[in-house]
Amino acid sequence: MNAETVDKAKAPRGTAVITGGARGIGEASARRFAAEGRAVAILDVAREEGLALASALDGTGGSAVRFYDCDVSDAEGVDAVAARVAQELGPAGVLVTSAALIPNTESIMDMDLAAHDRMWRVNYHGTLHVCRSFGRQMIDSGGGGAIVTVGSINSLLPLPLPAYNPGKVALARLTQLLAAELGRHGVRVNGVAPTYVMTPQLQARIDAGQRDLPKMMGVHALDVLPTPDDVADAVEFLCSARARTITGIMLPVDSGWAASVSYMTYSGGVPWERPAAP
Ligand SMILES: NC(=O)c1ccc[n+]([C@@H]2O[C@H](COP(=O)([O-])OP(=O)(O)OC[C@H]3O[C@@H](n4cnc5c(N)ncnc54)[C@H](O)[C@@H]3O)[C@@H](O)[C@H]2O)c1
Repeated sequence: MNAETVDKAKAPRGTAVITGGARGIGEASARRFAAEGRAVAILDVAREEGLALASALDGTGGSAVRFYDCDVSDAEGVDAVAARVAQELGPAGVLVTSAALIPNTESIMDMDLAAHDRMWRVNYHGTLHVCRSFGRQMIDSGGGGAIVTVGSINSLLPLPLPAYNPGKVALARLTQLLAAELGRHGVRVNGVAPTYVMTPQLQARIDAGQRDLPKMMGVHALDVLPTPDDVADAVEFLCSARARTITGIMLPVDSGWAASVSYMTYSGGVPWERPAAP
């Protein structure tokens, strides 16, 4: 390794590409990089929301923000969009892969196989496609880069979400493989693993009785769930010079879920009662 390689890993320049950037965690990340003054490419299938966000953010930090209609499950489509982004905004220096389908709990025996396959095509294959197209751009531009995949607490332990759960485990492994493959090009590859994030979609599921908020909170060490901005903080850190020697990790943004979920259900499943807050 030479000093130049280390330098590239230190401060990736170039466009920030955010898949699933029209909403939720992707939107919070797009806002963050636009505020930093980076050119931002929002890739999403939610055209109306993506266009509205891009036009609201365009020029706010001094750089262009553009929306690109892109279904990440379509490898050729992703390649074409990557070429347009490079031409219109400049080659990618940052990639955040937030696009995903988010399921409800179901059983493996009852799940619909077509829906299972679709989820893999978007969540896993889609991430692979964008990492290849924009990873090549980072290599070819010679400027290094930082990629952040968006995993989940599903990357860490089994949860009853067929397709989604093993898909997020596969993403954690893909993140490590890419880190090993791209490190010599000055490209760092990490992931974030959020617990339930307080997005409008989660709030809607709670309101519809599909999620039980007190039960969800009961297995976290902290009494607060992350917001999309909390996840964007972790994403921003992983893309910054402060993380210049960090690659191949899946950083939990989980309010202590991984540390406490088994702890809280010890004693044959009898939940342990936490002392009340002072
Ligand atoms: N919300 C949570 O509680 C939570 C927890 C852990 C991990 N995550 C992960 O965070 C990421 C973002 O989740 P979110 O809560 O912001 O969800 P969201 O639904 O708000 O955003 C996902 C975005 O991806 C887009 N998208 C869906 N399919 C696409 C496709 N084929 N091509 C391009 N874009 C597509 C959607 O249009 C949407 O804008 C996902 O990877 C999700 O698995 C979310």
